[in-house]
Amino acid sequence: MAQITVTTGRIVGQVDRRIFGGFIENEGRAIDGGVYEPESRFADEAGVRIDTRDAIAGLSMPVMRWPGGNFVSAYHWVDGVGPKDARPNRWDPAWGAVERNQFGTDEFMTYCRDLDTEPYLCFNMGTGTLDEAMAWLEYCNGTEDTAWANLRRQHGRDEPYGVKYWGLGNEMWGDFQIGHLTAEEYAAKAKRWALALKRVDPTIQLVACGRDGLHADWDAIVVEALVKYVDWYSMHIYTGSDDHWSNVLQVHQVDRALEYAGALIAGARYRQGVEHPVHITYDEWNTWFATRNDRRRGELVQERHTLSDALAVATYLNIFVRRSDVVKMANIAQVVNVLAPIVTGPDGVLKQAIYHPFAIAAAHTQELAVDAYVDCPRYEHTEEHNDRWEHRVGDLGPFPVLDVAATRSEDGTRLVVSVVNRDPDSEHRVSVVLSDATFAGDVTIRTVSGPHPLATNEWDSPDVVGVSEAGLEGAGQTLEIVVGACTYTQIDAAIGVNRE
Ligand code: AHR
Repeated sequence: MAQITVTTGRIVGQVDRRIFGGFIENEGRAIDGGVYEPESRFADEAGVRIDTRDAIAGLSMPVMRWPGGNFVSAYHWVDGVGPKDARPNRWDPAWGAVERNQFGTDEFMTYCRDLDTEPYLCFNMGTGTLDEAMAWLEYCNGTEDTAWANLRRQHGRDEPYGVKYWGLGNEMWGDFQIGHLTAEEYAAKAKRWALALKRVDPTIQLVACGRDGLHADWDAIVVEALVKYVDWYSMHIYTGSDDHWSNVLQVHQVDRALEYAGALIAGARYRQGVEHPVHITYDEWNTWFATRNDRRRGELVQERHTLSDALAVATYLNIFVRRSDVVKMANIAQVVNVLAPIVTGPDGVLKQAIYHPFAIAAAHTQELAVDAYVDCPRYEHTEEHNDRWEHRVGDLGPFPVLDVAATRSEDGTRLVVSVVNRDPDSEHRVSVVLSDATFAGDVTIRTVSGPHPLATNEWDSPDVVGVSEAGLEGAGQTLEIVVGACTYTQIDAAIGVNRE
């Protein structure tokens, strides 16, 4: 029998709810046809699809990143404000499509307000200028009698939006990025921008554009140069394979990247005497495998996610919880249609397999990450299948087949244990042992399951991968459950403290 030993008094980090953030980009059908579709019978008078918005609300996202992504590196925000019929069509060189600019800054702010989520905007550091970035900041946050703040007022928004999070570019390291830069060029430019932007609004938090934490030529240079001037360091990761084990285990590349980037940041802060924190935001992450880059907008990266992907997503979230000492924000990429948990169609929305573990974790994860030790069979990952991404993780194993994270409430009355059984062949009997507490009554077990690792939800069979819920009565220090093959199980239990 597998055993998970939880020590509720051994706190490994304060979980930041911003790890359940999202990201939407003007790409494919994410905005046009996803979030915004005036022609849809589900649209409100502003053209916003209410069915999509309701489905996003089910993911309880505290922060939303927009407008890109690669798109932002040629985006001029001013094209997307003011009367809609006067907004220009522009060629979007990132995704090879016409951008109609019908969903811009004010529409995004309204969307965030309605979703009760904080906006996180990303500057165009590709074709954009510092002047344009400062103007956007002033448009959003300006309180004085200035032309940019007044333009916002003219557009019917008297109160400033008070946007706190601003990204200094997107993936500027990549030659696929419009206007990409070398690490040295980026570091110099981002420093100049940071100093100027904080003069416009010193309360904002700036996000430096990192790579993936493992490319010393970018990350080491950029961290060293910018640690004084920024509040966040952003990293991105996509994983995926048609081999189930590679698909779920590649996610552990995050462990390696965090180790490395965390050390870079800690070292640079120490050397330079930087007192303010610089946290990591994984502001793009997800599984991305099946759909090859199809540059025709409308069909772009409309990934069909499998049950295996859902387990990968659950593993990502477990890692963010376990590393909640350094990861204070993460934004699943993306939210609607593009690589997303939600797909829209003429007759409504479809919740993909990955929707379910995300929704459950976002809704029930507690404030404090606590120590959970797992004793279970291990899987040696000797054959890596990396036909899309470069990640190699075999040396990090052997991996426990059960990936586990535990959180508890500040007051110590609630414990939530997330168990991802990545084993495609076997269920496992699991004994959850509390070393310093007892189960104290109600226990809810939520399970995401499906018939096989490649199972997907489709329009004519939307619940192949679904959620079931069961109740138990917990008492004493041990709870026994069985986790099925290829399942995500969340144990949500009332507990009492017992620290003799
Ligand atoms: O999310 C899709 C794309 O992946 C984003 O535009 C880009 O930042 C990343 O490479």
